[in-house]
Amino acid sequence: MTTAPAPQPGIMGIDLYQGGASKIAGRDDVLKLSSNENPYGAPPSAVEAARVAAADMHLYPPTDHAPLRRAIAEVHDLDPERVICGVGSDEVIHWLCQAYAGPGDQVLHTEHGFLMYGISARAAGAAPVKVPERDRTVDVDALLDGVTDATKLVFIANPANPTGTLLNGQDVTRLADGLPDGCLLVLDGAYAEFADDFDGGLRLAETRANVVATRTFSKLYGLGGMRVGWAYGARDAIDVLNRIRGPFNLSNVALAAAEAAVRDRDFAAMTRDGNAAQRARLICGLRALGLGCDDSQANFVLARFADRATAEAADAHLQAAGIVVRHPVGYGFPAALRITVGDEAGTTRVLDALRAFAERDDDL
Ligand SMILES: Cc1ncc(COP(=O)(O)O)c(C=O)c1O
Repeated sequence: MTTAPAPQPGIMGIDLYQGGASKIAGRDDVLKLSSNENPYGAPPSAVEAARVAAADMHLYPPTDHAPLRRAIAEVHDLDPERVICGVGSDEVIHWLCQAYAGPGDQVLHTEHGFLMYGISARAAGAAPVKVPERDRTVDVDALLDGVTDATKLVFIANPANPTGTLLNGQDVTRLADGLPDGCLLVLDGAYAEFADDFDGGLRLAETRANVVATRTFSKLYGLGGMRVGWAYGARDAIDVLNRIRGPFNLSNVALAAAEAAVRDRDFAAMTRDGNAAQRARLICGLRALGLGCDDSQANFVLARFADRATAEAADAHLQAAGIVVRHPVGYGFPAALRITVGDEAGTTRVLDALRAFAERDDDL
């Protein structure tokens, strides 16, 4: 019998990514608050653009994504030549690791950082290295201390997932300035649009050769199922990533939907305002129940319970009420639940369910 070929080193060390659950057996009224999706759905303008583009599904899509890059550049006041679009920002994260890190190299991220950083680092044969956070917030000094000659990439999400905390602009600049030559800082801005007065690091990426900013259409723009993300960086870095990008990585339908979504400023503003209002209600309601909860700047909130058993009991109680949230054990928070900010009715429903849990034999 022949032996099966072995995969590249590091691949079998990857734990499979677990997406947020979406179903509860026997219920058809599930409220899904586990994947930070847009509670208002997709923009109708994007749905219509996708419908029209679907007529061209027999044709290959364009390879250069020029209309989408132009739209992104117009809306964010950027140079379209420095924008690259991927199958979600996940794909961009993957390219960054593939292009800049390999065997013997290290990829730094923080203690509770987004799981894809470690997965993509390992897929490239590099070693992911976790550095501590301070009070559930990225710690610039710990990151700078963690850098070695082998560090090729540093990833931070800002606001961070799953904590929702934000590192201020001065600290982000200090991090970029403190990194040695040859080390790239990736500012993952998947939730940047939900933070107050924050550009997600785009200006820093404009002026620094060692900074790349990533963004997504999955959250504010309501296109999680379309899989579109993008990055902005120095021309040289974007050129590097374009060399490994599949030429037809985004479909006609995805390109059309994303272009319509980014131009739909009213939908984005409605989502941002709705999120800010419901996030404030959710944080206030959780604190009133005695739960620990940081000032999230994202579209989710991390509710901290007394211990893991209480978080599990609360999770079970929510599921019994038809509500799915995320128990972020894989992120190092076994005693917490990450709750996506829903619409007004969703926020009422999750708060009512948690209040009932708290009142049940003083469970909190
Ligand atoms: C911090 C962070 N970065 C990146 C992503 C990837 O998003 P997408 O691939 O949908 O663009 C997510 C998704 O949840 C995320 O939480």
